[in-house]
Amino acid sequence: MSTWNPNGQSLIQLVNVLVDSLSPSHERRSNAMEVLESFKFQPEFLNYLCYILVEAENDTQLCRNLAPIDLQNCRAAAGMYLKNSILQDSKEYNLDYVKHNIIQGLFSPISLISNITGIVITTLFSTYYRQNRSDCNGIQMISQLLELASQGNEASIKALSKIMEDNAQFFQLEWSNSIKPMEFLVNNLLSLMTYEGSAVIRAEAIKCINTIIPLQAQSFVVRADEFLSNLFGLAQHDEDRLVRIQLCISLVNLLEFRPDKLLDHLNGIVQFVLHIMNTVTDESLTLEAGEFLLAFASNSHIPENVIKPFINDIIPLLLSKMVYNEEDVMIFEASNENDADLEDKDEDIRPVSAKLSKKRDDGNLDDDEDEDDGDVDTQWNLRKCSAATLDVLTSILPRDVLSAAFPFLREHLSANQWFIREATILALGAMAEGGMKYFTEQLPTLIPFLVEELKDEWAPVRTITCWALARFAPWILQDNTQFLIPVIEPIMNALMDKKKSVQEAAISSVAVFIETCDSEIVETLLYNELLAKFNQCFQFYQKKNLIILYDAVGRLAEKCEFDETAMELILPHLIGKWTSLADNDKELWPLLECLSYIAASLGEKFLPMAPDVYSRAWRILCQCVELEEASQSNPNIEVPEKDFMITSLDLIDGLVQGLGSNSQELLFPKGNTSMFHVMLICLRDSLHEVRQSCFALLGDIAYFFQPQLIATHLVDFLRYISNEILHNDDNEAAPSLNNAIWSLGLISEKIDLAEYIIDLSRIVLDAFTDTTKVIQTSIMENLAVTIGRMAHFHPEIFTSGAFATDSNWSRWCEHAANLSDPEEKAAAYGGFLKIMNLTDTSIPMSSSTIHKFIQGISRDVEIIPFLDDLRAFLMSQSSTVQNLKLSEEEIFFLQQMS
Ligand SMILES: *[C@@H]1O[C@H](CO)[C@@H](O)[C@H](O)[C@H]1NC(C)=O
Ligand SMILES: *[C@@H]1O[C@H](CO)[C@@H](O)[C@H](O)[C@H]1NC(C)=O
Ligand SMILES: *[C@@H]1O[C@H](CO)[C@@H](O)[C@H](O)[C@H]1NC(C)=O
Ligand SMILES: *[C@@H]1O[C@H](CO)[C@@H](O)[C@H](O)[C@H]1NC(C)=O
Ligand SMILES: *[C@@H]1O[C@H](CO)[C@@H](O)[C@H](O)[C@H]1NC(C)=O
Ligand SMILES: *[C@@H]1O[C@H](CO)[C@@H](O)[C@H](O)[C@H]1NC(C)=O
Ligand SMILES: *[C@@H]1O[C@H](CO)[C@@H](O)[C@H](O)[C@H]1NC(C)=O
Repeated sequence: MSTWNPNGQSLIQLVNVLVDSLSPSHERRSNAMEVLESFKFQPEFLNYLCYILVEAENDTQLCRNLAPIDLQNCRAAAGMYLKNSILQDSKEYNLDYVKHNIIQGLFSPISLISNITGIVITTLFSTYYRQNRSDCNGIQMISQLLELASQGNEASIKALSKIMEDNAQFFQLEWSNSIKPMEFLVNNLLSLMTYEGSAVIRAEAIKCINTIIPLQAQSFVVRADEFLSNLFGLAQHDEDRLVRIQLCISLVNLLEFRPDKLLDHLNGIVQFVLHIMNTVTDESLTLEAGEFLLAFASNSHIPENVIKPFINDIIPLLLSKMVYNEEDVMIFEASNENDADLEDKDEDIRPVSAKLSKKRDDGNLDDDEDEDDGDVDTQWNLRKCSAATLDVLTSILPRDVLSAAFPFLREHLSANQWFIREATILALGAMAEGGMKYFTEQLPTLIPFLVEELKDEWAPVRTITCWALARFAPWILQDNTQFLIPVIEPIMNALMDKKKSVQEAAISSVAVFIETCDSEIVETLLYNELLAKFNQCFQFYQKKNLIILYDAVGRLAEKCEFDETAMELILPHLIGKWTSLADNDKELWPLLECLSYIAASLGEKFLPMAPDVYSRAWRILCQCVELEEASQSNPNIEVPEKDFMITSLDLIDGLVQGLGSNSQELLFPKGNTSMFHVMLICLRDSLHEVRQSCFALLGDIAYFFQPQLIATHLVDFLRYISNEILHNDDNEAAPSLNNAIWSLGLISEKIDLAEYIIDLSRIVLDAFTDTTKVIQTSIMENLAVTIGRMAHFHPEIFTSGAFATDSNWSRWCEHAANLSDPEEKAAAYGGFLKIMNLTDTSIPMSSSTIHKFIQGISRDVEIIPFLDDLRAFLMSQSSTVQNLKLSEEEIFFLQQMS
């Protein structure tokens, strides 16, 4: 215990301010806030806050001055203030008093106070102890928490589980006196998980262990069997829902990280989980149990024959859990009437965010196909989890799943209750992908049936049917195109459904068909009709579905070149909307995005619109940049959301892609390079999506426009590119890095980088040859292309030093081989051969590298431009080439050469 004592007067003063800070009067509150801010600079401020939180109940002066409820609220406020101050600037204060006394707050009988104390303790660990592990108070505090928990103090184990959630990995390190807390944590938690006196303590102890399992810490691994045996004991006897929730989570964790440990016990575990799902109604628990089934089905370590025996038990259960629950059914039944004319309220519109997956980042192709676009609820729940499980199970054991499911489905497809029909259609959609081959016989009767359901009187049934039919799109488009028109026409009609939720599902479904179709089929069969329908939709839709419509229009534009008809039918709506929206309306984002696809698709036909569209996008971009700059010195300026910058950059880029060199005069009128100033500011932005879009624009400018233009700001751009390569190591931000590397390639192909080439090549090579971290494939591929492009003017810099080793050539060949864009691939290999042509032949290339080279260059590369270099290279390596075991394709390729 620390000997610090508060000054009575100061204490009362602070308490009064805290009471004011909770006052209903706005004025008193904001005055109080100001005073509190000024107190922050007092060195003992945190001591006072801690004292009020923890010891107020024994302070006679305070108890006399305040009513119990006021005192309690004031303590809570002090606690939250304490937490925030530690979070913001713990370094400014001496924390001794807090560290020694805070734990007493856990004894408070008032749960609000003990809870807030827990939050403060958690914050101490996340900010202070995590860095100052040698401070022996850290370990002491952990021991105290464990000790208290073992005496039945629930607040302390809750605090501990919060601490572990944020910091578990740090407990594997050494703290004071070389102690690794993980060992005694595991030891104590194993016994706490069976603590008889309190289910909360058992549940929280398991929750703590759940943060340890993924770390695979040695101190846990050696005790894993003990943990399992405790777990199974609880599974048999403990009916508490909190305990069971944590139990299910443990099982999911173990399955992911130590499936070997569970293999012998799977039968019992699956039975346990099924039992919960069959008998419990509480969805927070059944969802965790459902998660186990999903993990069980998805785990690649679990052999099919282990899953197979459970199919007959699992499938009916999953099907039953896919039915909307009573509450949802009531909501749907109360809201089935048509609402197409009802205006959308702004708050109903989900925050739209600009699509950020565009451009040169081939790495992230995860087209997040929403499992259930048809659902009103956007949250993950048991229904969706069950559908996902059914989907996965069908893909591994299609025959068994279908034969288990079909009797139910057949019976339920024409059930009287709409929610049974609905769930059945959901199930069919979920099984579509995995069961496609086995469905084939049923589908010719099933599809017309589903199409009929698009007319169901119940909106949720129509909605799910739109979704389910889209799931059959690959089947229809591969071998069963006779179904295309019979299916897509009714879906197109559903675009005009009188229920907005159905419109939404229909438009998403149409978008899937557009994505899945070959462009030829879209052009010949669907294009005109889609345009006509979209035209109608533009007149019919309310705000929210319009946003989704923009997306579908954008996809169509991406798929096939827009023509005069599109200009007549679609553009007026977009331009009309575009003119009616203010520059700061968020609805502009999807519209800008859509226009950028259309501009790219219409190409020169967009020319007449281009000046207006461009000048607006440019204006928005300039406004954002100006406000952003101004806000640096004046924090009161409200900065517009970054999506305005991103989407206007993307639209400008769309114009450049569509109009090519024709847009140069637009962006750089009479050679005015203001655009570059703005771009340079965007490249400084801390948000990687802004940089991502700006680097994409930079690359296209380098590609399409006169090289003299970029040359005026070359040094600056190269500096930002270097910075990006050197300092962006955030996985999330990889697209921005990719675009930076890509644009560097295009620039160095157009402009002789002369004196900068040495530094830049070093940066690129350092990134490329770094074997100390795992670098995303897309980044490595972009680096490989950029090395090739840099060699266009300067092959010589790659002929000695880091790149001139067999292992790096081999690495290069591995990544270049996988390039998908033929133009990039050709540029890459062309450059590589220039390097090889100049490289001293005394550096040997291994036969495996030569083989990789031949593998890569024999597929999808236009070799004419560098045929001489290629011949010379193959000649120089001919003795090795002769001894390679080549595939027929590769032999054919080499024969062509000679
Ligand atoms: C308050 O007083 C009680 C009774 O003397 C004592 O048990 C408790 O530890 C005190 N609380 C604090 C936070 O000092
Ligand atoms: C405090 O209570 C909230 C709400 O019940 C809970 O979410 C949180 O985990 C608790 N925090 C601690 C540290 O006990
Ligand atoms: C805690 O760690 C920080 C950063 O390592 C250091 O600056 C500070 O002096 C340490 N504080 C104490 C009390 O050890
Ligand atoms: C270049 O264009 C910007 C606006 O886009 C304008 O403010 C600036 O004065 C122009 N500079 C020159 C030299 O014309
Ligand atoms: C590439 O070369 C560097 C420098 O010679 C070397 O350290 C590195 O290990 C090589 N990279 C690979 C992938 O072999
Ligand atoms: C190239 O693609 C193949 C096949 O998809 C894959 O196995 C290989 O790992 C890829 N190589 C690299 C370097 O990513
Ligand atoms: C380099 O290429 C030229 C033709 O482009 C060829 O004549 C010469 O032999 C090549 N040199 C080497 C070392 O491959």
